[in-house]
Amino acid sequence: MSNGPAYSEILERNQRWVAERTAEDPAFFASRVKEHKPRYLWIGCSDARVPADMITQTDPGEIFVHRNIANQVVPTDANILAVLQYAIDVLKVEDVIVCGHSECGGVKAAVTGGAPAVVDNWLMQLRTVARLHDDELAGLPDDERVTRLVELNVREQVYNLSRTPVVQAAWARGQRLTLHGLVYRLDEGLLRDVGVTMDGTPAAAMAGAASGNGAAAPAPRPLAGARAG
Ligand code: CO
Repeated sequence: MSNGPAYSEILERNQRWVAERTAEDPAFFASRVKEHKPRYLWIGCSDARVPADMITQTDPGEIFVHRNIANQVVPTDANILAVLQYAIDVLKVEDVIVCGHSECGGVKAAVTGGAPAVVDNWLMQLRTVARLHDDELAGLPDDERVTRLVELNVREQVYNLSRTPVVQAAWARGQRLTLHGLVYRLDEGLLRDVGVTMDGTPAAAMAGAASGNGAAAPAPRPLAGARAG
């Protein structure tokens, strides 16, 4: 039995939500029509337990969202590249958040196998991340390996993001744009910053990714003190 209200109940809940929002602020919906200028782009996992706007308590209009299995930034994925370009070049978002989460099924499957063929193919890059950090991961029991790979994956995806043409071009023209990596704990509901914040300031290479894959290029710089909790 799957979780979730009946389909008809979804429509009823929508109507209740509209009534409540309108009671709080009669102009709420009219004001959404006027503009679409979200500050954030969220790149998260498709996992139903990690709803971007609910866990960040943001309103419609504040977060532009892209989700895929295991929150990956794959440089050949036309979908995410289009989202990135629209978010950064047109909407002019100021912050991009990559958010992973504990107990991620995609990360688990990359470690243990067993995903259906198409999903398994999508996890290819995640297995590369795992291989890149094999020395560290190999010594851990399966559950800790998943937890660690969730964080390493976020770090690598922020790094991938920093190397996309859209982000590189934004930084080159001086556009204000900061990248962040977060991990969401399902059992707590809490978000933690993993300390790989980058704002494109030319200086040191990114401390976080430790990936060694291509150190040349307009170097993104980590901001100090980003680790929280
Ligand atoms: Co997931």
